[in-house]
Amino acid sequence: MTTLALNNVRPYGEDVTNILIDVADGVIDAVGENPFDDADEVMDCGGNVLLPGLVDMHVHLREPGREDTETIATGSDAAAKGGFTAVFTMANTSPVIDQPFLAEAVWAKGQEYGKCDVYPVGSISQGLKGEQLTEIGLMSRSGVRMFSDDGKCVNDPQLMRRAIEYAKAHDVVLAQHAEDHRMTEGSVAHEGEQAARLGLRGWPRVAEESIVARDAIMTRDYGGRYHLCHASTEGTVELLRFAKNQGIDVTAEVTPHHLMLTDEKLATYDGLFRVNPPLREARDAEALKQALLDGTVDVVATDHAPHGSEDKCVEFENAKPGMLGLETSLAVVHRIFVEPGLADWRFVAKVMSERPAEILRLKDQGRPINVGEPANLVLVDPESPWTAHGDEMASKASNTPYEGIEFSARVVGTWLRGTQTYDSKKA
Ligand code: DOR
Ligand code: ZN
Repeated sequence: MTTLALNNVRPYGEDVTNILIDVADGVIDAVGENPFDDADEVMDCGGNVLLPGLVDMHVHLREPGREDTETIATGSDAAAKGGFTAVFTMANTSPVIDQPFLAEAVWAKGQEYGKCDVYPVGSISQGLKGEQLTEIGLMSRSGVRMFSDDGKCVNDPQLMRRAIEYAKAHDVVLAQHAEDHRMTEGSVAHEGEQAARLGLRGWPRVAEESIVARDAIMTRDYGGRYHLCHASTEGTVELLRFAKNQGIDVTAEVTPHHLMLTDEKLATYDGLFRVNPPLREARDAEALKQALLDGTVDVVATDHAPHGSEDKCVEFENAKPGMLGLETSLAVVHRIFVEPGLADWRFVAKVMSERPAEILRLKDQGRPINVGEPANLVLVDPESPWTAHGDEMASKASNTPYEGIEFSARVVGTWLRGTQTYDSKKA
């Protein structure tokens, strides 16, 4: 048996302990008061924080089709560097992931590379056209757990109703990108004072909220597991609260950028800050923060969206929406919640690992740090200042909205089933 000792760690930022990993089986073999000095490999972890490997329900790895901006391999590297052991990559690739063999190919590539479990998300409509449903049943039998037309909204209510019914029958998650496209034609920024001042066409809150309200009622009447992608407004939070209070089976995610950034960032017309849904106002960010704290919003998901400079360093209106997230999300969540004392590391484990694993029913992710559990782990140094630079990222693209911002929490190491997938000392 090959063993690895992670000595002197603080699981969930709590008391110091020592962890012994059975590397071949990829499980935690022992947890003990005394350091495991006889292991084949011994690491002194300096009292750093140990969490279950992070799970991201929403990324775009751009393969197949835009391998010039990200691949399953480079995206897996970025994920491992960010502390993730599982990610769900969206279907808006070229071709769209709308058939079983495409989903199977994504999963196989991720496994072959081996740095992160890359779960394919299947599209709801064929070719993301919003017209014909995909074979949700067939794809679910190929292991697809979540379906989404993300990037686009399933606007047609009748198509959405059918999707909800099929998703229910096959017991899979339906993830909606809530945006009434009729209300956002040509929109590039949040509809508000800032967009008016800058002369940018606005994307009103109601374009999101009207879909959330409709979908919540549909989920009430037709059932199924509904998940809301990137909640971005105060009103959405109120609607989620209403739905949850009614016992409707809805879950929701918020991105790090909607928590940390607002449309004030648009003042320089920098295309890096164009994203869908758009950065909103301080009161929206505040409502999302409270919602994550009280469980109205379930998880943090990055919506990691790589784009090349030819699509970002252009006029704001012509910039493609989306920003990188995998390598900065833990630091952002630490900055917003842990640093000011609003929440502890247990909360971080919950919203970035346990809840997403629960929603997607992953049996080997988001598990407690205990004997017999899979060794999917991330080690974090909460006080290791670093500055975000796009050109230093593992991601193929460099469109981070945090360029030049200093963070204090840093991922030191990531392990997937006992194998180290990221080591800050070797990076
Ligand atoms: O900003 C975004 N970018 N939002 C989306 O929904 C899609 C994504 C992308 O694919 O670039
Ligand atoms: Zn997305």
